[in-house]
Amino acid sequence: MNARAPFPAGGRDWDDLLVDMRARKADDIDWRNGRTPLYVFHNDSETYEIGRKAYFEFFSENALGRKRAFHSIQSMEREVLDYGLSLFSAPDGGEGVFTSGGSESILVAMKTARDAWRAARPGRGPGSAMNIVMPVTAHPAFDKASDLLGYEIRRTEVRPDGRADAEAMRPLIDENTIAIIGSAPCFPYGVVDPIDQLSDLAEATGAWLHVDACVGGWMAPFFTMNGRQTPHFDFRFPGVRSISADLHKFGFCPKPASTVFFRDAADMERAAFVADAWPSGRFETSTLVGTRPGGAVAAAWAVLNHLGTTGYRDAARRLAEMVDLYVADLEALGFRMIARPDLSIIAFTSQSEDMFAVAKELGTHGWLVGQTRRPPGIHAMMSLFHAPAREAFIADLAVSLERVRGGGAKGRATDVVY
Ligand SMILES: Cc1ncc(COP(=O)(O)O)c(C=O)c1O
Repeated sequence: MNARAPFPAGGRDWDDLLVDMRARKADDIDWRNGRTPLYVFHNDSETYEIGRKAYFEFFSENALGRKRAFHSIQSMEREVLDYGLSLFSAPDGGEGVFTSGGSESILVAMKTARDAWRAARPGRGPGSAMNIVMPVTAHPAFDKASDLLGYEIRRTEVRPDGRADAEAMRPLIDENTIAIIGSAPCFPYGVVDPIDQLSDLAEATGAWLHVDACVGGWMAPFFTMNGRQTPHFDFRFPGVRSISADLHKFGFCPKPASTVFFRDAADMERAAFVADAWPSGRFETSTLVGTRPGGAVAAAWAVLNHLGTTGYRDAARRLAEMVDLYVADLEALGFRMIARPDLSIIAFTSQSEDMFAVAKELGTHGWLVGQTRRPPGIHAMMSLFHAPAREAFIADLAVSLERVRGGGAKGRATDVVY
């Protein structure tokens, strides 16, 4: 057991603290050079600096107080939500919430779907059986929400192309289904589910369709605008009731920043949590958290205004070029893409090689290796840190492959972690 750190006596100055903090970074993964397959997202140094400076301009402001105290934050948050409503083709009356991450956006959407379900079924209050129906590729944030909200999860296998199978989901939907889920794209295989078909399914069954666009939301539309085959996923499909979309992933905004949008204002009201029983007056939030950083709102507003359509389309073009080069290199090494990437998540496998062993070998070259269990594969959610890293990655992968063929490391499915 580690000895517990004693409460500090205090008095350390900044220089001393900085030296200490920097020393602690020594064993961190080299994310600036594309060595991690998730966690950090990047466009270019100018976008990074604008996000950072805007964040620190509003370092102390609390977005919880945006309506009463920080009108600056309120106006910027309003504009960010408006930008998202337009980007996602929301009809008049559509509304959104600025949250602190994808998991929170998903939780808020599932709470809202539950309350809409209850509103349509008087008498089905707490304790009622509820479920959601989703492809096996949907993110564990839905499992977390299920733990908190008490619904059952019904999972279906995906089609051979890695996308949700609407027909497989249909028989699992019943009168207790509070929502069905599609992703844009799903994390494991990087492909956008057929939201058109899920929308038809939602309309036919009356189920709420939530699109988890945490990864793709603020970027996939620009791939499509550039003429890439990235499918549409938004409110243009009438069955879509809510969309989660993270600014802190491919919006290239500083963490923590995400958004969740609702087609109808009535649903947005259900997103709110209100309490008024204590002595200090009415408390209302549409987020799980209370206090949240004003800096994250300001930074998102600044980055969105800095990049705009031109900047995001340019980033989309550079991401797509990078992905195509990775795919060509991987196929040249004999790997098979688990699915053709719709955005910049790549996942690849092999018919002949032990992919768990290849991943383990690759890890010895200083890469944090992302993996898939089914099928055994290597996985990366790549942003523009990964463009200059490509040659080194492919070279180390080739060496790893040779080592495994020569009887090197053995890996196990249980080594796969998110
Ligand atoms: C598809 C998808 N949904 C939701 C999330 C959760 O986002 P966060 O980590 O911001 O809570 C992720 C995270 O990678 C994701 O890939």
